[in-house]
Amino acid sequence: MIPGGGETVMVALSAADRDPTPFPRPDTFDIRRPSPPHLAFGHGIHYCLGAPLARLQAATALSSLFTRFPALALAPGADRTWRRSLITRGLTRLPVRVGG
Ligand code: HEM
Repeated sequence: MIPGGGETVMVALSAADRDPTPFPRPDTFDIRRPSPPHLAFGHGIHYCLGAPLARLQAATALSSLFTRFPALALAPGADRTWRRSLITRGLTRLPVRVGG
């Protein structure tokens, strides 16, 4: 509770884009899913100014990675380690294999 005011609101950023109503099966990675615009770059007047640059960098990095390692795949049976954070969601460790 804020003294003399309203109540504290804690926004769980890591829940963004995971509402199953607009994003069915949110736990499934589906790069082609038809969905409403995601919120990764924000929304409205403060929409990320760097979004086109970030998209270009991601496209360049991922296409270089898959060109260099065409057989790149998750390492079978390996554990994925998640960040312990309510603010950001992501992996700290993602074992992969690069050869066939
Ligand atoms: C994957 C990469 C990135 C992600 C996920 C991302 C995400 C975001 C998000 C969610 C916001 C909105 C923050 C808010 O509403 O308060 C934002 C704002 C902003 N981003 Fe990014 N961003 C990325 C890369 C970049 C890059 C590369 C640049 C600059 C070269 C950049 C510059 C900015 C700026 C200047 C704003 C503030 C816009 C404003 O307040 O009007 N971002 N970003």
